[in-house]
This record gives sequence, C-alpha cells and structure tokens, in this order.
Amino acid sequence: ERTALWGGRFASGPSPELEALSRSTHFDWRLAPYDLAGSRAHARVLHRAGLLTEDDLTALLAGIDALEADVASGAFTPDPGDEDVHTALERGLVEKLGPELGGRLRAGRSRNDQIATLGRIYLRDHAAEISRLLRGLIAALVDQADKHLGVAMPGRTHLQHAQPVLLSHHLLAHAWPLVRDLDRLADWDARVAAESPYGSGALAGSSLGLDPEQVAADLGFTGSAPNSIDGTASRDYVAEFAFVTAMIGVDVSRIAEEIIVWNTKEFGFVTLHDGYSTGSSIMPQKKNPDIAELARGKSGRLIGNLTGLLATLKALPLAYNRDLQEDKEPVFDSVDTLEVLLPAFTGMIATLTFHTERLESLAPQGFALATDIAEWLVREGVPFRDAHEISGACVRVAESQDKELWDLTDDELASISPHLTPAVREVLSVEGSIGSRDARGGTARVRVAEQLAELRARLG
Ligand code: ARG
Repeated sequence: ERTALWGGRFASGPSPELEALSRSTHFDWRLAPYDLAGSRAHARVLHRAGLLTEDDLTALLAGIDALEADVASGAFTPDPGDEDVHTALERGLVEKLGPELGGRLRAGRSRNDQIATLGRIYLRDHAAEISRLLRGLIAALVDQADKHLGVAMPGRTHLQHAQPVLLSHHLLAHAWPLVRDLDRLADWDARVAAESPYGSGALAGSSLGLDPEQVAADLGFTGSAPNSIDGTASRDYVAEFAFVTAMIGVDVSRIAEEIIVWNTKEFGFVTLHDGYSTGSSIMPQKKNPDIAELARGKSGRLIGNLTGLLATLKALPLAYNRDLQEDKEPVFDSVDTLEVLLPAFTGMIATLTFHTERLESLAPQGFALATDIAEWLVREGVPFRDAHEISGACVRVAESQDKELWDLTDDELASISPHLTPAVREVLSVEGSIGSRDARGGTARVRVAEQLAELRARLG
C-alpha cells in the first residue's frame, strides 16, 4: 500500500530509483519528536478553529502520545516506502487512529512549513546543549588560569618570543572568543525564536482560520513568521547556525594547535593526562595529543558544512525547492561533531599539567625585555624613536656575545647610551615587565585577576 502523501493525481507509484533518491528518513528521523510536538500544537489550533471536535482532539492527542512512545521505544520505525519523517509519522497515526481521524491532521499545514519549523526547534535545543558544553570548556580554561595565576610564560608574535605574559592571561585569551561564541548562539536563538513558520502552509499561508501565533507560542517561539513565503523558503537560520558552529571549531582549533606544539619535546610546556592522550601501535614510548588533532581536523569539517550549505542556498528561487532537503545533513553533522568533541576537549584542558618552571625560565629569553628597556627610557624623557634604537643596540651587543640583556655590564650599558644607567635593571625582570602592563586588559596580575572575576560572572 502506498504511503506517499501525494498519490491522488498519479496513475502509477514512484519508481524505486526515485524512492531511493527522495527518501530522507535515514537522516531526518531524529526530527520525529519535534514533528510530533508540532502535530500536537497543530491539533490544538485546528480544534480552536472549530475543525476538530473536543473528542477528536482528545483522541488525536492520545494517538500522538502513543505514537511518540512507540518511536521512543523503537517499536515504530520508518518503512522503506516512507519518503520522509512527516510521511512516516502520518502513516503511524493513521495506523493507530484510522484514516478518518488520522487523516484530519494534515488540514492547513504542509511539509514545507512543518520542516522549516522543526529544523528551528531542533537546532534551538542543540544550541542550548552546545552552549552548555562551551560553558564547560570556558570553565576549564578559567580554572586552569586561576590555578596558575602568577606563572609567567613567553608571549609570542609570529611564533617568536615577544614579551613575557602570564600563563593565565594567555589561557583566558582563548576563553574570550568562546564567550563571544556563546553570545552568538544566544543572539541566533532570539532571532530564530521570533519567527515560527508553522501556518505558512506550502508557501501562501493558511486559509482555514488557524492562528500561527498560537502554534508559535505552543512550540516555544516568541512570534510567528511575518511572511509565509519567507517562512517556508529561507534557511539563513541554518547557515547562521553552521557559521557559529564553524567559528567554535576554529576557535577550538587554535587552542588545539597550541596544545600540540606545547606537548612537543622541544617546547615541553605541558603533559597530557593519560586518560586524554593516545599511544602508538608500534612505538611504545608514544603519547599523542589525538584529541587536539581531532579538534584541529574537525574544524575543517565544520567549515565544510557551512560552505556546502551556502552553496546549496545560493540563487535558489522562492519559495520551497526540494534542494532545501539538503540543509539537514550538514548541520546535523555539525551538531554531532561538537557534541562529541567538546566534552573530550574540555577533559583534556581540565587535566593538563603545565611545566611552570620551564615556562618561567623561558619567559624572558629571546630578548623579550627589550620593549621594557625602551619604555623605561621613555619614562626617563628619551623620545621613543631614540629609545627603540638604544634598546635595539642592547640586543645587538648581547646577541653578539651570546648572552641575555640582563648580562650586559654597567659599562656596556653606558657605552651604548649615557641614558642607560644601572637603574634600568629594575625593568630587566619578568616580574617588573609583567607588573608594569597594568592598564585594563593588560597582563599584570591584578588585571588578570580582574578578568578571572569578569569571566566567572559571565559563567554565572
Ligand atoms: N523532506 C522535505 C525537506 O526536508 C520536506 C518535504 C517537502 N517536500 C515537498 N515535496 N514539498 O525539505
């Protein structure tokens, strides 16, 4: 027996090749609970419009509950002949309630407004879950920063030693982008919540006196779509979600890359916990940062999901086109990817051991205090242009003798410039350098402690 929702005008059923191409239940079945929630709201709005009796409504809601239980237990699953999740669930309802009652629910709705709505509810749920996981990752970074407050490390630009910074400052520099990602998810959610497409019908809206605002409120939206064509045809909400998840992937990949480098013999900044690292099948000594590498790799996949989706949407005419069925697999993959990646990544960060002595000893190396000499000279009244030259000369002399800036003798300093009195030594320490950068956002300990408090307040 044919289960398609559109048999009437066709003399023959669909070819097996068409069925195979058209079928989406192997990926859209995860929307079943959302489809059923939509059906409940739709039944109520049909009843309110006088299209279902009180008894019809009660029986329909009971049928939907029973079907939901069967879906949850696995007793009801899609048939090969079911084109999509909507088709399968209508079949299930008709099997439970008979065609007379089960066939009433489709009045005034189309799969086009259904799918546009269900996608929103599904992604809103997972935006909440991803936000929760992100908060966990931010908290792990904040805890590590808190635990190591006061430890100095080499700050880098161009991957070269630049200026000493606090390890906590560096770790929190990875936390703030994730906080902005949280904000992005919240902004996205408010935009999506404002426009429920249910009631848009196939494209032109509903003629049966159904109130889209009521369905919207029933499904947790704050408003309904102002334009039914837009309601069924737009997927910018999917693309925006894919962007935010790709951005999260990219932000995490930047942490990942540093962990990978820090975990090398040459850097020796960190040791990974055994539970969050992997071995080699041939080299017994290996302890690999696979979580960080998978994070780095999966960021490429998240970017691919976004660009693939944008390519699908480009130049698509209004209103619904079947192309739009291709919106699901990429974002479902983005959701699955982050929901499996973030817990592992958070565990890796939370259990990371930092080698603080090594970090501290490397902090001033590579002439990282040259800027402090220049700024000390400025405070002594020397124009910065000259101060920069003088400090650069100190580097040149020290480098030629294969020693550090603080190894220069008083005579050497004086011969470079008469401004370089022994008092300059007060800034030739990591502590002095870090402590002097005490404007808001700087690496001085007081400011980093301030950041920690700000972040903790954001996490609630
Ligand atoms: N399964 C479709 C999708 O995911 C929804 C059904 C709309 N199909 C249609 N022929 N109008 O976009």
